[in-house]
Amino acid sequence: MYAVPELTVPDADIARWGGGPVSLAMGLAAHPERWWRLLNYRTDTRWYRLLERTEQYEVWLLSWLPGQGTDLHDHGPASGAFAIAAGTLTERVVAAKPGRPPVEVTRALNAGRCRAFGPHYVHHVTNAGTVPAVSVHVYTPGLSIMNRYRLEPSGLCHLAVEQAGVDW
Ligand SMILES: [Fe+2]
Repeated sequence: MYAVPELTVPDADIARWGGGPVSLAMGLAAHPERWWRLLNYRTDTRWYRLLERTEQYEVWLLSWLPGQGTDLHDHGPASGAFAIAAGTLTERVVAAKPGRPPVEVTRALNAGRCRAFGPHYVHHVTNAGTVPAVSVHVYTPGLSIMNRYRLEPSGLCHLAVEQAGVDW
């Protein structure tokens, strides 16, 4: 059963939109026959592929070989969810408010688990396991920018902005 996780800003619009990104991500993750022919892996970097794009949302399929992961990043104004279809991913979430020390939560997400997130949700995801992992990510609206960060004792240090059509 899904519950809005700690450190997540629920977006009221998600609840009004169909089954929502959680249902979409979990539904696809549970039915690999819908996408396994498209699945690939890369040894030099994480592999990803756009499965669907509408005016409301995007769906991406990602694979993660052991050791592969992201930088600390957010998804700009997009909300969404990601579900683990195979393997285990480790997610580290960072919440930083001005004037307060940052709060971190790290958790292992096994196949079948799903995480939902609101705008400007900052996390780091990696495959710390020994077998490949696969995940399905839904963003609403579609992913337009991603901010990259470095965590410092005083809080998040913004490093760069990546843009759709330029950086992915
Ligand atoms: Fe992310």
